[in-house]
This record gives sequence, structure tokens and C-alpha cells, in this order.
Amino acid sequence: MSAAPRKPWGGRFAEPTNAFVERFTASVGLDQRLAHHDIMGSIAHARMLARVGVLTDAEAGAIVAGLEGIETDIVEGRFTWQVALEDVHMNIESALVQRIGEVGKKLHTARSRNDQVATDVRLWLRDEIDAIDGQLRETMAALIERAEREAGTLMPGFTHLQTAQPITFGHHLLAWFEMLARDRERFQDCRRRVNVMPLGAAALAGTSFPIDRIYTAQLLGFDRPTENSLDAVSDRDFAIEFVAAAALLMTHFSRMAEELVLWSSVQFGFISLADTWCTGSSIMPQKKNPDVPELLRGKTGRVNGHLVALLTLMKAQPLAYNKDNQEDKEPLFDTVDTVRDSLTAFAGMLPGLIVHAERMRESARAGFATATDLADYLVRHGLPFRDAHEVVGQAVRRGVETGRDLAAFTLDELRSFSPLIGEDVFAVLTLEGSVNARDHLGGTAPRQVRAAAARARARLDNT
Ligand code: ARG
Repeated sequence: MSAAPRKPWGGRFAEPTNAFVERFTASVGLDQRLAHHDIMGSIAHARMLARVGVLTDAEAGAIVAGLEGIETDIVEGRFTWQVALEDVHMNIESALVQRIGEVGKKLHTARSRNDQVATDVRLWLRDEIDAIDGQLRETMAALIERAEREAGTLMPGFTHLQTAQPITFGHHLLAWFEMLARDRERFQDCRRRVNVMPLGAAALAGTSFPIDRIYTAQLLGFDRPTENSLDAVSDRDFAIEFVAAAALLMTHFSRMAEELVLWSSVQFGFISLADTWCTGSSIMPQKKNPDVPELLRGKTGRVNGHLVALLTLMKAQPLAYNKDNQEDKEPLFDTVDTVRDSLTAFAGMLPGLIVHAERMRESARAGFATATDLADYLVRHGLPFRDAHEVVGQAVRRGVETGRDLAAFTLDELRSFSPLIGEDVFAVLTLEGSVNARDHLGGTAPRQVRAAAARARARLDNT
């Protein structure tokens, strides 16, 4: 057995930490995930200290080389994380001292784990936001491509999950695109507040050394240093707003997933998911279950939970840093993992999606989807809309009673509801007539869907 490692803060203590307390207060099991960014932050800090003359160039050089060696050890799986050293920061610092000797002890000059951890999390989250942005972008491009292909595919549009009016599947897919476009903007906006550097705030009040925070910020690619040292070490708003944006993204995925689940049922039959993207039942041989969209829907719950966890974590904390903040890691990490897997799942599902256009079209015919078109027709022939609504309502009632669609009525039958109706009504009652008529910005006409897809692509190219 090797001797227990010496804690960097051990000087004040006459007795060793209780074993339970050691485990209870440790975060290294989770925050070792920040190692790369912790080392990045330390290297920049050491370089800055040399620049302002707090370290010599030789000292900073030894520290940087030592940290780079540690990074290699970690990447190659040669690093041993120790719970007795509490967290990622003290594990790496202690390894540095072991590796390069006394000079390693100078790294922690003019900083604290409080500004260090806040910096690490921001650096890490910035990279994750960029990765999420890339995934979102690809998913959105796939939606545009599919929407263009399905610009003329007819399906029923729903309100209250009851047949409302005919729409095109391309239009529906572009509605999904818009949801994701707002999500992407939210992440990009959140990134601006993530990309601010706490280093230099030290424990809470700043440091007595002549640090150059602007230089460190530049080295680390931060937009600027934080303005207030107390706020710098205690703020976790950036994490909360990231998780809030993630919760909305997951809510959108959940809604889309719900539609995929419904549509792939035998009862709807609008789509099939690829075999490779589904699972079976151990008892019912006929089953092909949409597990992936179901899990997308289900995983929304955990991200919503993480948002509440973080809000609750912060709600009564006095300034400045409190150990409570260590609890931010699990919700934040799991949110990132869930979002990234969900993006992979959703994007992976799209190419294999088989659209049953005939079935969609047939379904759009049921439920009097073109009743509004008939009312609009009567309005164009001079009837006030409320009267037209009443007339068509009576025609629909007859249709329900006799089991026929409006388009199946004879002209004489239709004219019995209103003499304003002429032969040209039948063009209006077709599904194509209905969607083609909605030919304005934001409408479902195939022409508009193609134009909207082109605009969407241009938006994606510019951001
Ligand atoms: N592991 C800690 C955290 O995640 C690092 C900061 C600890 N600071 C302290 N003074 N105990 O928040």
C-alpha cells in the first residue's frame, strides 16, 4: 500500500480526513472529465505569470512541459486518479509536483480552485456548445433536404389531433427545422455569456500579484475577463441557461419523436423507420418498436430534471463560492451527453425514414380536410365567412351521415346548400387545390415550401 497522498491544503489540519468525508466531498470521479481544459487553463495561467514576472521563463517552461506530460498520461490511460486528492484540480497539481518537483508548487500562485473550476467548466462547455452547434447544423441540413423532396407530398394537418386541413409533408418538416433553428440561436447566444474568463478572481477577492487577465483571456480564446471577482467565482447562470436551452431542444425532440411514434403505427401508417433503427419484442413476433424516438421523448425528462436541479442548487447561495457548486457537474455533464446522443439519434433516424405517400394522401382525404376551402370559396362568391361556415357545416353533417367526402357530392347536392356553388368548386375541394391555394410566405403550397427550403439553406450557410 502506498502512503496516502498529501493534500495540498493539509497544513492547517492536525488529523486526517474522515474516510466518509473524503468520499462525500470528492468530485474527481466526475470532474476528471475536465482534465484537458484544466490543463489548458493552467498552461495559460503559467504563461501569464511568466509574462508579468511572477515566474521566470524557465519555471513556466518546466510547468508547461510537466502539464503537457500529464495530459499525455491521461490520454493514454496512464494516470491514476485519487479520491484522497478530492478533485481534478488537486490531482493534476499534485501529479505536477511529483513530476517536476518543487517548481510545480508555484503554479497555484495568484489563483484558487474557485476561479479555476469556473474557468474549466466554461472552457469545456464552450467546446461542447460548438460540437452541439455542428450536430444541429447537420441535422437541420438533413431536414431541409428531406423537406425539398417532400415539398409536394400531401398529408393531413392536425389540430387537436383531428384532421384539420391538408398540408405537405415538406411543410411539416420545415416546421421542425424552425424549432431547431431557434434552439441553435439559443445555444449560440448562451455561448457569448459562457465565453468570459473568471481566472484572476482567485478565491473571491482577486489577488495581490500583478496579473494580466486580458493576456490570459486571449491565450484561452475568451472574449474578455469577468468584471467582478465575487460574481466570477459564484456565477453558474451560464450553466443554467445552457441546460434551459437544452431542455427546450429536448422538448422539441420529444414532440417530433411523438409524431414519429404515432406515424409509424399501423393505425397511421404514414412512415416506417428503418429496421436498423428499431427493436423487436421478445414475446410478440410481429413487433417493430420505435424505441429510438420513444427514448428521445423519454430523455427529455432527465434534462428537465437537471434544469430544476441547477436552479435549486443556486437559489439560496450567498456570495461568493460555496461547495454546493460542485454539484453542478453531474446535471451539466449528463445534459451534454443526453443532448449529443439525442442529436445523433434524431439525425441518424432521418435518412432511413420511409414515407408512405399514398397512405398519407388517403388519410388526408378522410375527415373533410377541405371543408375550409369550400367555406373560402363561398366567401369569394360573396357570402360572409360566418354564413359560409354554417353552410359548409351543414354539408359536412350530410357527408358524415351518408359516409361521403364533400368532393363525392354531385353539383346539385352541393348547390342545395348554396346556390353560389358552381362547377369550379371541385377544383377547390381537391387536396392539391387546397395546398396550392395556400400560396403565400409561410404557407403550405409546394411552391412556398421549396422557396422556404431555399431560404432555410441560405440561413444555414450564413450562420
Ligand atoms: N471541486 C470543486 C468544485 O467543483 C472545486 C472548487 C473547490 N474549492 C474549494 N474551495 N473547496 O466546485
